Amino acid sequence: MKNITKLAVVAAALVCLTSVASVPVKAAEASAEMFSCMHEGTKVSKTYVRHADPAKLAEAVAIFEGNVEGKEYPVGTILQMVPNEAMVKHEASAYPNSGGWEFLLFDVSAEGTKITARGDTASNPLGTCLSCHTGASKFDYVCSKGHGCPPVPVTDEQIIAMQGQDPRCSAN
Ligand code: HEC
Repeated sequence: MKNITKLAVVAAALVCLTSVASVPVKAAEASAEMFSCMHEGTKVSKTYVRHADPAKLAEAVAIFEGNVEGKEYPVGTILQMVPNEAMVKHEASAYPNSGGWEFLLFDVSAEGTKITARGDTASNPLGTCLSCHTGASKFDYVCSKGHGCPPVPVTDEQIIAMQGQDPRCSAN
């Protein structure tokens, strides 16, 4: 093959790669600024729910309280149970393995929130977030009680104590 032909083949392959790379939907990502003292959310049971749109917040709260199978939370919903973890709902195509939920792990301090892991691979010492939350796929991946997730080895009282220690709240 002549050099010029080789170049043309390489160029064509590169064009092809570029176009393939631009096709997949770019995953939506939460930014650290979206997270502050978790108590600013609306508390339902022991989970804090947030949404920038009050009507959609009301919808998300009703879904959580209603415990109904097959209901999807509005895009933009943020759920938090402990200060250093959150779930943010995006379009399903952004995180297809979790119905659009982005799982997040943080470092939290009085200065604010630093995102240390996100998405399907984010994990805490018990495993990946997805490995447990996928058990609640019929409840839009929200574990709550009795939705099919393996339990967390902490009591409700211990979770509430962790909520009381969100270092971002003392700055308020
Ligand atoms: C060992 C399994 C397990 C792992 C791992 C796990 N979770 Fe959960 N998660 C649960 C269970 C069970 C609940 C519900 C607890 C309750 O209501 O008493 C829960 C609750 C939550 C909630 C409140 C909403 C809901 O689903 O009830 C959020 C938010 C959450 N987890 C985020 C995360 C994130 C982010 C990670 C990873 C960094 C993670 N979880 C890892 C089992 C797990």
